Amino acid sequence: METRVLLVEHPIEQSLFAEAGTALANGRIVAFPTETVYGLGASAYLPASVREIFRLKGRPSDNPLIVHLLSADDLEGVVSSVPPAFRVLYDAFSPGPLTYVMPRGERIPPEVSAGLPTVAVRFPSQPAARALIAAAGVPVVAPSANVSGRPSPTRARHVLDDFAGRIPWVIDDGPCEVGLESTVIDLTSDPIRILRPGVVTAEAILMKTGIEVVSWKDTATEEEMERPPAPGMKYRHYAPKAEVHIVLPEKDRSFAGSFLEAIRDSEARTGVFFSESTWNELRKYAETLPPALDVYTYEGERDLTRAARFLFDAMRTLDERGVEHIYAEGFEGDEAAAYMDRLTHAAGAADDRIPEAGTEPGASGGLILFICEGNTCRSPMAEALFNDRFGGTIWRAASAGLSTVPGWPVSDQTLQALREFGIEAEGKVSKPVDLSMLKEAKLVVTMTTGQRERLREAAPAFSEKIISMADISAHARDIADPFGEGMASYRRVRDQINESLEDLFSLLQQR
Ligand code: TXA
Ligand code: MG
Repeated sequence: METRVLLVEHPIEQSLFAEAGTALANGRIVAFPTETVYGLGASAYLPASVREIFRLKGRPSDNPLIVHLLSADDLEGVVSSVPPAFRVLYDAFSPGPLTYVMPRGERIPPEVSAGLPTVAVRFPSQPAARALIAAAGVPVVAPSANVSGRPSPTRARHVLDDFAGRIPWVIDDGPCEVGLESTVIDLTSDPIRILRPGVVTAEAILMKTGIEVVSWKDTATEEEMERPPAPGMKYRHYAPKAEVHIVLPEKDRSFAGSFLEAIRDSEARTGVFFSESTWNELRKYAETLPPALDVYTYEGERDLTRAARFLFDAMRTLDERGVEHIYAEGFEGDEAAAYMDRLTHAAGAADDRIPEAGTEPGASGGLILFICEGNTCRSPMAEALFNDRFGGTIWRAASAGLSTVPGWPVSDQTLQALREFGIEAEGKVSKPVDLSMLKEAKLVVTMTTGQRERLREAAPAFSEKIISMADISAHARDIADPFGEGMASYRRVRDQINESLEDLFSLLQQR
């Protein structure tokens, strides 16, 4: 599929959006900018398009989407009732980066809310987003336009990095103003809770409206800590491939001094993210800086608003340059909550109350064994995709073939399809499946139900832990062999496997 990029000119002409808007209303996927991050848009009225969004992102099916509207006049049928605080909050903060969770209305299919009785609604202020929604004439669901697990996109180029050739339209209106996803608040609870921090803070809400809201963590039960009320907060997110470290200002020391201390002994390839002024200070110590330093700066003095705007671009850019460590500047204070939330998620460990993928209670970890025939296309693909997303000290994937000989290299098209996702699998060779592997594995996943049956027959003692890809979730299917076919088939296999991975991971948690 060719991805058309619509470059927005200012002042905005509504007619420019007619074609993309009609396409959206008719079921196509259109990525578009908002003031926070780019969104992957679909009509909220069309369940098939909503499911397509989950498929494209590889998003767990228990993670609901946000519905984007132009104004409160469009709430009819989207919500079933409007909680009393809504109007006051709306007048103070909308349009803008605040999302309201309210009782779901009859026109919104359950797919949108992942079956929840509520729905999240937001009124974006970005003019191109508004022109597109107006042209579509329908409520637009839009998660951030990144493959699940990657940093959110704040430029059209980021969207293309993840989805070029996989969606028909991207609207390009330059970098996003805010750079962090919207604040999500739950209007169905008393007190009102912030489910996801954003630039609209509890303090700002209190100052402007007199309404007191709390962070969900402050009132959460133990059960809620394990299953956050915004399911999207459950996993480690916003994660670049590099290891992220946060540098905070210290008393009695310049900020550049703290940075120098943090990075000076780094021997690996190291990236840094901070303001130009910090860099101007730091570069004076050129001789003590690590030799392989990649520098990403934003203009001017150290500044929270600008750091937030550039954070995700910095993560993606430094990742592309192949750094192993990223040292990013941290900020203190209430207004930095959203920025620090994204950064600590990226760093993976800092907030130990948010379980990292694989560390939920009951997740003891172990080996996942993917099985296909030759162990040169499908199963190495699944192995690499799983390890890229979840692999580590807790969970690890391997693969083997039902009918293969040892030592065949992974096929070129498989390597290519993985490279397009930034994954390198060169050097892996085929292995026939054997008893010791089956014994060690926590779960064995075949590509087809036929393979599952053959393997169960060959090794009945392990039947219980042998499943097929189609068993993972209701919408999963057999993965057909792409051998001898073109790149399009390999990409299809990759995307099909990728979209089932989060569900597979949830399954692992339950076992
Ligand atoms: O800034 C934003 O909100 C961006 C732009 C594109 O609008 N969108 C965005 O969507 O960040 P997404 O899907 O990446 O994140 C939506 C968050 C998730 O954490 C999800 O769990 C939560 O909102 N959410 C959505 N509906 C919910 C509901 N009914 N109840 C609780 N949480 C909900
Ligand atoms: Mg997101």
